[in-house]
Formats: sequence, C-alpha cells, structure tokens
Amino acid sequence: MSAVKIAPSLLSADFAALDREVARVEAAGADWHHVDVMDGHFVPNITIGVPVVEALKRVAAIPLDVHVMISEPLRYAKPFRDAGADGYTFHVEAAGDPIETARAVRELGMRAGITLNPDTPIDAIEPVLDDVDLVLVMSVFPGFGGQSYLREAESRIRAIRELGWTGDLQVDGGIAEATIGGAAAAGADVFVAGTAIYRHPEGVEVAIARLRDLAERAGRE
Ligand code: DX5
Ligand code: ZN
Repeated sequence: MSAVKIAPSLLSADFAALDREVARVEAAGADWHHVDVMDGHFVPNITIGVPVVEALKRVAAIPLDVHVMISEPLRYAKPFRDAGADGYTFHVEAAGDPIETARAVRELGMRAGITLNPDTPIDAIEPVLDDVDLVLVMSVFPGFGGQSYLREAESRIRAIRELGWTGDLQVDGGIAEATIGGAAAAGADVFVAGTAIYRHPEGVEVAIARLRDLAERAGRE
C-alpha cells in the first residue's frame, strides 16, 4: 500500500472562483484534484464537462483525478485526456466492455480507474483489475456531494484487498473526520472529500491536515 493521498472534490468548491479554489487546496497540501463529471443520464445530475477540465488544467499544479459518472465512458476518454485529465475513473455499470475501456484509457496515457455503485457486487470489477491503476469504492450512491457515508463500504474495501489488490484504493462519498479512519483501517489509501474540505469551518488547511493524520493513524493500526 502506498502513502495516504487526499483528493478534495471540486464539486464542493465555489464554481465562480475555480482558480482560487484550486490554489487554496494545493497550498494546503492536497495530492490530487478530484473532478466529478456527471451527465444527467448515468446519474441524475449534471456537473462538470470537458471545457471545465481544460480550464482547470491551466491553473492546476497537481494531477486531475477525473471521476466520470457518465454513460459510454470509452467515448469520452480521449476528449478528457486532451483536456488534461491525469486519471480517468469510470463506472463498471456504464462501460459496455470495461476491459477494453481500461486498456484504452491507459493507451491514451492516463491512469485508469474502475469504480462501482454501492449495490454492485465486487465480482463485477474482478476481471478488470489487471488493466487498472486504481479501484474506487463508492461510499455513497453517485450523483451529489454532501451525502452520508455508507459504512458497508468498509467490508467492500476489505474484500478488494483480500483479492490481492495492492494498487491505489480510493474511497469517495461522505468522507469526513468521523468516517475516514474506518475506511483507512479497512485498507483505503486515497480519500476523496468535498464538503469536509471545501466547507470546513476552520479552512481547508486544517481540514486536509486532520483528515491525513486520521487516515495515517488508522492505516497503521
Ligand atoms: C458523489 C461524488 C463525490 C462527492 C463527494 O457522486 O462522486 O466525489 O463530490 O462529496 P462529499 O465528500 O461531500 O460526500
Ligand atoms: Zn467522485
């Protein structure tokens, strides 16, 4: 397992000031920007698209971790790569052929990530593990920021480690000071947090430092 990474989700940032929001979490030690792309079809919400990723790339100094909650992820891999995505994580439920999609993502020079909804059995991603760099366990149903953490994610994180997965294991949804330790103890090492970072009353620096500390401690236990 690698070192803890903290990936603030831009979904909770001020969209009228993305350049400032990007700089603010970078100064606070963020490892990746998590970019939530939603198409209003695979999930019931529309958020960020290719032109915004292109704009983010111009101001970001750390990797753009793009999480596509879209139908036909293969079709949009190249446009997002051209816009500057460093990682491209897609849903197994949305990909016609997940292995083909993962291979195409890597061939385009991005890190490939596979993810699945909380009610999709882990077996669905097992055949894809050889062709990806990251596994994302959703701890909410995708579609909106600010939802409550589903603790069942922890047994799913454990199950993926038990399959022998040693790569990045990301968790996304409801991650906060009260929940990050459980996910880390289960085996996650990349933590997405939107609300708990961008909306922290004491600021993003305190938020990131506390989350990192709690994850590192729990991961060592
Ligand atoms: C949910 C998104 C998440 C979300 C996390 O569909 O994939 O990345 O923005 O937001 P919080 O941390 O507020 O649950
Ligand atoms: Zn996400």
